[in-house]
Amino acid sequence: MCAIVSGCSDAPAAPPSDSPPDSEATTWIQTNLLHPQCAQCHWKVDPSAKLDLYSPGLEARVVGRGASECSNAILVVPGNPDGSYLLRKIVDMPPRCGSRMPIGQNLSEEWVQWVRDWIASLDHTAPSQEGG
Ligand code: HEC
Repeated sequence: MCAIVSGCSDAPAAPPSDSPPDSEATTWIQTNLLHPQCAQCHWKVDPSAKLDLYSPGLEARVVGRGASECSNAILVVPGNPDGSYLLRKIVDMPPRCGSRMPIGQNLSEEWVQWVRDWIASLDHTAPSQEGG
């Protein structure tokens, strides 16, 4: 990861002991996308929609978890980006509930693809794929 992430000296804090550690892909997307683009609202203290995208232990908070402000929506379905509400919230205009994220801004196609790749990578049962 050090090849892509600039400033490798700043190692992420250890996740709290009650949540399983995040994968490298999760830490990467968190550091490079969620922190700069989402964490000002989805902060660890009183986050928008009770969704903390800032703290470590992200997978435990989003994988297989229902959305707090949209019924029958799962935030992240491993291996199924299009079935994941978190992805739908950044691509659908408008999404099923609420506003498109990040509010007032647009993520580049490239970032949307990184989010897709991240969600796909969370399916540890799938055979590894190059490209996609
Ligand atoms: C300017 C503030 C702001 C920013 C920036 C922002 N959000 Fe949100 N987010 C909100 C608010 C407010 C809600 C609740 C209303 C709604 O769903 O539209 C929300 C809801 C959500 C939800 C639904 C959570 C649930 O359980 O219902 C997801 C998923 C989400 N945001 C993801 C993101 C992602 C990913 C980013 C960054 C790419 C982001 N948000 C950036 C304010 C923000």
